[in-house]
Amino acid sequence: MDVNLIVNGERCRARVEPRKTLADLLREDLGLTGTHLGCEHGVCGSCTVLLDGLAVRSCLMFGVQADGSEVTSVEGLAGDPESLSLVQRAFQETHGLQCGFCTPGFVISVTAFLAEVPDPTDEQIRDGLSGNLCRCTGYQGIVQAVRLAARLRREERAETSG
Ligand code: FES
Ligand code: FES
Repeated sequence: MDVNLIVNGERCRARVEPRKTLADLLREDLGLTGTHLGCEHGVCGSCTVLLDGLAVRSCLMFGVQADGSEVTSVEGLAGDPESLSLVQRAFQETHGLQCGFCTPGFVISVTAFLAEVPDPTDEQIRDGLSGNLCRCTGYQGIVQAVRLAARLRREERAETSG
């Protein structure tokens, strides 16, 4: 079946089997291997992408279900392949990653989370991160990264509005 998508701001078309997941479509057909596959059954969150602005697990969706939608993977978060998004910068600055396997899923989830909860408490941050698993960091650096990203995001918004 033909699937038409906007991926990271570009129109894409792929011919896929109906049972192919969105994760496999992104990785195999579009070469976007920044979307990682861990558990492949909806538990770890490493395959998270934005679908029309909402965080979804791309291992749980068929590619054909995304037909006509806009997808943002980790490669498109910054809008420019040479730079980092604000959330990615926060992860880098706070050492919110070790092996990095889980990181694309975390930065996507955190991006969606902060769009909904711009000034989160630590409890809200932990709750917001509960759908993503990390085997390396112990989560402290990740929580710090979200705190920093929230602050940078608020500062950036205050500057552009004032
Ligand atoms: S690979 Fe999709 S949730 Fe784990
Ligand atoms: S940094 Fe290794 S799994 Fe999270």
